[in-house]
Amino acid sequence: MFDRLNRTIDYLRVSITDRCNFRCTYCMPPEGVKQLHHRDILSYEELLRVIGVLSRHGIRKIRITGGEPLVRKGVAGFIKQIAAIPGITDLSLTTNGSLLAGMAGELKAAGLNRVNISLDTVDPGKFAAITGAAKLDATLKGIRAALAAGLTPLKLNVVLTEMFGETDLAYFIEQVYRYPIAVRFIEYMPIGNSRIGPGFSSDKVKEMINKAGGGCLEPVPGPPGNGPAKYFLLPKAQGTFGFITPISDHFCHACNRLRLTADGRFKPCLLGNAEIDIRNALRAGARDEDIAHLFFRAVSEKPDSHNLRRSAGRPEFRRKMSQIGG
Ligand code: GTP
Ligand code: 5AD
Ligand code: SF4
Repeated sequence: MFDRLNRTIDYLRVSITDRCNFRCTYCMPPEGVKQLHHRDILSYEELLRVIGVLSRHGIRKIRITGGEPLVRKGVAGFIKQIAAIPGITDLSLTTNGSLLAGMAGELKAAGLNRVNISLDTVDPGKFAAITGAAKLDATLKGIRAALAAGLTPLKLNVVLTEMFGETDLAYFIEQVYRYPIAVRFIEYMPIGNSRIGPGFSSDKVKEMINKAGGGCLEPVPGPPGNGPAKYFLLPKAQGTFGFITPISDHFCHACNRLRLTADGRFKPCLLGNAEIDIRNALRAGARDEDIAHLFFRAVSEKPDSHNLRRSAGRPEFRRKMSQIGG
């Protein structure tokens, strides 16, 4: 499936819940967000129907997101059913990792290929300040369990906030020497009214790695993935560093994705307010071609690029990250 700008759209990010056991400050406002009622969330049957139809129109890669996707009951069974849909070649999940230790084996057996896990800092106090949860140990256990279960290539997502410091840098450098993982630094997108400010720039982090890492970062293709990260390798390291730069160097010209929110809206762009309702259609007896038509409409409404930098002041975002899934 191609959009107006001839971009290939083959990646669907499916948010299965707006709930989360964390309260990351950059992801939702301090007061939290009003939770969706159970009846307003698409059932697994509805989600599978949409994914099934889209798989016949070029969607090949599915990423399950939330909120925190592992808080929704029955997620392994759901993943097993997605894995059985012909044409889906990559099935992944983005998680905060805190519930993963007990689920990694089951998820892998269900057909999940890989996970991306958020880990912004390894300082327990800062971790709690960012996430609102004293769960650093659980997340670290989740990371180990994911590696042991073969949910690989494993990627860590590090949002660059002012909490990120030298200790974290040293930890992540050690990790890429020890394990074949990708550590990705993500520029903070100011859409959550966070009390915690942005941290070092991507260029600064590169400079810091070059100083502390025992050699210079070299650009490499990186592990398989469908996202916007650009990857670099330190000499003799097993793992890589990735940089996701929506602010300093946006990647919209290569955008390949659409999002489906837990309450059944296609979102043409993470950083735009446009939404196409699919839930009503599903519940009013839509035929497969009606679902496909709404998908085509969403693809046709994809903007050329986001306007986080263009707009004066802060653009008004109707949804917080936790209601989209990043
Ligand atoms: P891979 O397939 O493993 O490359 O996954 P990914 O990087 O697409 O997914 P992940 O959920 O791990 O997202 C990592 C970061 O990239 C998160 O902060 C997302 O919000 C951000 N991100 C993902 N897709 C987009 C996008 O289309 N636009 C922008 N601006 N940010 C995105
Ligand atoms: N800026 C950048 N990344 C964010 N994420 C959530 N909110 C933001 C933000 N404001 C990341 C999470 C997770 C992924 C889904 O999106 O850390 O790894
Ligand atoms: Fe695509 Fe919007 Fe992300 Fe740009 S910001 S890459 S257009 S989803």
